[in-house]
Amino acid sequence: MATILGIETSCDETSAAVVVDGRTVRSNVIASQVDLHAKYGGVVPEIASRAHIERLDSVIAEALDKANCSRDDIDAIAVTSRPGLVGSLLIGVTGAKTLAWAWNKPLVAVDHVRAHVVSPAIDIEETPWPCVGLVVSGGHTSLYRVTDLETIDLLGQTTDDAAGEAFDKVATILELPYPGGPHIDRLAKTGDASRVRFPRTMLSPDSLDFSFSGLKTAVLYHVHGPGKTSGGLEKLTEQEIADIAASFQAAVVDVLVRKTMRALDATGLDSVALSGGVAANSGLRAGLQEACDKRGARFYAAPMSYCMDNGAMIAALGHDEFMQNRLADLTLDAAPR
Ligand code: KG4
Ligand code: ZN
Repeated sequence: MATILGIETSCDETSAAVVVDGRTVRSNVIASQVDLHAKYGGVVPEIASRAHIERLDSVIAEALDKANCSRDDIDAIAVTSRPGLVGSLLIGVTGAKTLAWAWNKPLVAVDHVRAHVVSPAIDIEETPWPCVGLVVSGGHTSLYRVTDLETIDLLGQTTDDAAGEAFDKVATILELPYPGGPHIDRLAKTGDASRVRFPRTMLSPDSLDFSFSGLKTAVLYHVHGPGKTSGGLEKLTEQEIADIAASFQAAVVDVLVRKTMRALDATGLDSVALSGGVAANSGLRAGLQEACDKRGARFYAAPMSYCMDNGAMIAALGHDEFMQNRLADLTLDAAPR
């Protein structure tokens, strides 16, 4: 049994977690910076790195405290080293290296997106893989063939906007607060999804790639009128705005579900693991569950608390790296890509 301290600072969440055996979460502390970035309508990298510096120590202390353990109980320190905002990554990497040196513990470098991929396995007994992994977040929309924790191969990805980015941009068009995903999700519940038929970009018949920029533009012109980028929102009723949110969400969910089913067809796999910030979307969870049920495939969604960026998923994948003796050293650097 190995106990891993996981540290995540790749974007705008400062997080630390203590996870035993790669599955049992003893603590998962997340200090969100949403309030700091909201007024800019997106993450400001310089503000993000400064906030990580201010918060990292206390977030780690709280994670140890909540897990009721001390540094002596920690077998290794895992940290997100790629990809992400370089300034943000550097804070976590430097913090983890400092602790590894001061506490004399092994250091493990973790890929953030791979950590999302494996997050549906946290806190459950079963193993989702081999499966198709769908990672949908503010920065990524990717399908993977997940053979096991070691073998994760990219099947397709977005060619322009990430799904979360589309949610956030459409929320901006509808003048909803940042980040917009949860607000669209909430509004969609009261809207009529069949009201507006927004485009579903499927690309070529066997493509497992995504494109969401056309959908975002379609919403923009639907709100303001063809070719216009302002002046339309004031004319819409609350119900019409909810209908647009629901219709937009239905289009995103439709594409994500159909492409995931396409990936099952292409790989012959019969299991799906959903993760990333957009995996919190109620329509997407329900849509994928229904489609998987229909074909008798197993469906695993990351628990809500492990959808957004979190240290638990870093410790979970870090555990495997540690057990395989793939260790980093104090020359570890942040890799934005
Ligand atoms: O994984 P995450 O915390 O950060 C990245 O690595 O990007 O994902 C954040 C994204 C944001 O775009 C946010 O709007 C979206 O996840 N999101 C949602 C929901 N909750 C968060 N999108 C749709 N529905 C939600 N309920
Ligand atoms: Zn993420």
